[in-house]
Amino acid sequence: MKSIKVGLLGIGTVGAGTFNVLKRNQEEISRRAGHGIEIVMVADLDVARAKELVGSHCEVVNDGNLLVSNPDIDIVVELIGGYGIAKDLVLKAIANGKHVVTANKALLATHGDEIFKAAQDKGVMVAYEAAVAGGIPIIKALREGLTANRIEWIAGIINGTTNFILSEMRDKGLDFDTVLKEAQRLGYAEADPTFDIEGVDAAHKATLMSAIAFGIPVQFDKAHVEGITKLEAVDIRYAEQLGYRIKLLGIAKRTPQGIELRVHPTLIPAKRLIANVEGAMNAVLVQGDAVGATLYYGKGAGAEPTASAVIADLVDIARLADAEPAHRVPHLAFQPNAMADTPILPISEVTTSYYLRMHVADKLGVLANVTSILADSTISIDAMLQKEPALGETQTDIIMLTHQTQEKNVEAAIKKIEALPTVIGKVTKIRLEHLS
Ligand code: NDP
Ligand code: HSE
Repeated sequence: MKSIKVGLLGIGTVGAGTFNVLKRNQEEISRRAGHGIEIVMVADLDVARAKELVGSHCEVVNDGNLLVSNPDIDIVVELIGGYGIAKDLVLKAIANGKHVVTANKALLATHGDEIFKAAQDKGVMVAYEAAVAGGIPIIKALREGLTANRIEWIAGIINGTTNFILSEMRDKGLDFDTVLKEAQRLGYAEADPTFDIEGVDAAHKATLMSAIAFGIPVQFDKAHVEGITKLEAVDIRYAEQLGYRIKLLGIAKRTPQGIELRVHPTLIPAKRLIANVEGAMNAVLVQGDAVGATLYYGKGAGAEPTASAVIADLVDIARLADAEPAHRVPHLAFQPNAMADTPILPISEVTTSYYLRMHVADKLGVLANVTSILADSTISIDAMLQKEPALGETQTDIIMLTHQTQEKNVEAAIKKIEALPTVIGKVTKIRLEHLS
């Protein structure tokens, strides 16, 4: 049985996890793959640390170029991250006729079309299960398991770091910076954690899912991206009182006008399973026209959960390496000549429900003024919470949940509400999804 030779670019958190799981489970894995899968070369900047991790099992170099041009290597696994050297090495590996496995969602969400085209032209595979939702086989589910369906929408908790931060802050009352440091220590966070907390990482993943769900090009630049840094504890508390949890959701939704592609903090009814996904766990809810809703749950980050997805890709490639390229699963689920050019909608055209919090003077008529602005903008109120002013206070909070409306309507109404003399400061707006 010919063994498949693998080169590993980067042996950090995920690289080390991949090396260890492959070594530990090699017998089971080769029984499944029909081939042995062997890491024969590792490239990492820190050669001494890499040698310590791999022992005498394989050659260690500090220049990835040596690895991608090594004629003995069949599959290059890119676990460096980013879109600088990683892009260069992936394209060189493809040009040298090697299959590629990567966990690098930043690279694929920004340069995916170019990379997949290069792979297509060369007849090699680029596999990226680990790039979305860590250990959850969501790419497999979307590209293969749900292939009979017209996907209507996807909504996911797809960033472990931010979900961990929101959960720990709520349950343990810890502050943001303390929890972020812990997420970094546990290996969940990106090299630049602003990618996590500002929603960029989740948007990379949502972009990839939108491409394979709807058969459109990879268009990260069109995604609407908001993170959790502006979220206030008071809104998490009010949301709970109204029966909701706030989660950072990545949403890709088909509408008659185009595709919504957005990442932002979102109120979700607390009774939904996905609202109860805590810590670094991820969950992706997919609505297909035939199957209905399906939910995928598991560890979205960390060394071995991510290694699980990387190795699943290695096994897939080992099984399919000898197949005709036309008989393999297309990179973006749809045949390259059957991609659609459905537009991605600007956020102003998105339709959803809203949580609005305003701080007001506790005066006669304030509520009537606000509700009349909303009514004039054809925004219907679904629920409302008005706090009694604290003793001696003359100001209070009003919280309103709206029915579905277009974002531009809400923005126009908010401008008018903020201009009222009885409304103090800015109105806080958080989108709300029922996911039903
Ligand atoms: P790490 O930073 O832990 O590992 C990256 C490794 O690559 C480090 O060992 C680094 O060395 C090495 N490296 C950097 N530059 C080069 C270079 N030019 N040549 C060779 N090696 C280099 O990152 P992770 O393992 O966390 O992430 C890897 C990828 O996996 C990223 O794309 C990330 O987004 C993705 N991912 C990560 C997950 C996680 O839970 N951590 C989950 C899913 C995906 P040095 O440390 O010396 O700089
Ligand atoms: N930083 C990412 C997260 C790693 O926290 O989800 C997994 O992609």
